[in-house]
Amino acid sequence: MNILIVGSGGREHAIAWRCAQEGHKVFCAPGNPGIATVAECIPLASQTPENFLDVANLVGAELTIVGPEAPLVAGVVDLFEAHGKRVFGPTAKAAQLEGSKAFSKEFMARHGIPTARFQVFDDLDEAKKGLARFDYPLVLKADGLAAGKGVVIAKTRGEALEALEGLFSGALVGAAGSRVLIEDFWRGEEVSFIAICDHDTALTLPPTQDHKAIFDNDQGPNTGGMGAYCDDRILTEAEKKHVLEEIILRTLTGMAEEGAPFRGFLYAGLMITADGPKVLEYNVRLGDPETQALLYRITGGFAETILAATEHRLSQAKLEIPPGATACVVAAAKGYPGQVKIGDRIEGLNAVENATVFHAGTKESGGYTVTAGGRVLGITARGADLREALKLAYSAVGKIQFDGMQVRKDIGQKGLKRYTD
Ligand code: GLY
Repeated sequence: MNILIVGSGGREHAIAWRCAQEGHKVFCAPGNPGIATVAECIPLASQTPENFLDVANLVGAELTIVGPEAPLVAGVVDLFEAHGKRVFGPTAKAAQLEGSKAFSKEFMARHGIPTARFQVFDDLDEAKKGLARFDYPLVLKADGLAAGKGVVIAKTRGEALEALEGLFSGALVGAAGSRVLIEDFWRGEEVSFIAICDHDTALTLPPTQDHKAIFDNDQGPNTGGMGAYCDDRILTEAEKKHVLEEIILRTLTGMAEEGAPFRGFLYAGLMITADGPKVLEYNVRLGDPETQALLYRITGGFAETILAATEHRLSQAKLEIPPGATACVVAAAKGYPGQVKIGDRIEGLNAVENATVFHAGTKESGGYTVTAGGRVLGITARGADLREALKLAYSAVGKIQFDGMQVRKDIGQKGLKRYTD
């Protein structure tokens, strides 16, 4: 099958790699140098839904898989469907689950899906008054898409006031902050739970855990994710059943009732509380870098499963997921998650063994692969268990160098605590 992947990051490299492993002819728009080793990359003047449709027609795509959220919220799926092109992802209306935090929280409240207490504000003065109804620390969230930068955890009223000023003024995340949510803060472990969904049917993927802070021990500012691992032990069987029934299926039923049936990857960002799993947020796509760990775990049937989901036969699809675990360690550029230094030559890519390096922010320059973004690489390995996966991933990380490379040394450590044998 001819498959087009929309996007250009580590997640899209992992999707393209998986589809190529399964014998498909893969195209990616716009792609990156790593993706170009497994797919034909099509450069784009701009990433509009119309341009993606043109590429799909040009390459004869029989299936298009959309990686990032922005084209989904911009209506790429609606456009493809209007032109009879097979595509996997939610419509713009259904993508509001990620595109508007206010919509998603109010949706959860309407459908009894467990989430933190919250209030939505359109006005700075009202939001300042609203702080009094919450204890510290509290969470402030921009309503709109903010590339992972729209959430602030304020420990004091001073921090909260500063963040509210930054959000409403546009200084922090532009127009995405013109509406702001205040939420209760929860302590606990975060888990990423992703399901392949087709309106009323869900096929759950194994749980993964991301590492959002830039430094070890979850210190420092939030990033898009500095590493992830996939291990069945992250949730018990009872917890997985609970999340499927009380969160994923309830979300699908609610979206259908509201006239926005959901097809695509539904990602519930969970907090595992003493009271059970609760939803921190939804994403309407695969996570990054969770995908690198997830798709390295799957050994067959991925592309056919996505195709099945677009043809209303997801319940017949079968993914091959052998026992074991995978881990992805992100190598980020100097300065990330702030102003990043780019253009540094990456050494050692060819020396990597027993792991796959997914490219996120790289480009070719003067015959070398150089850094070109905040998250540069996702070094990913598989093992009989998490211990082995981490050992192989970190051993491969040790072969790679570039100026100012930042790597967390504790990816998967929370997961190792679940191993008592
Ligand atoms: N890793 C978090 C995300 O993809 O949003």
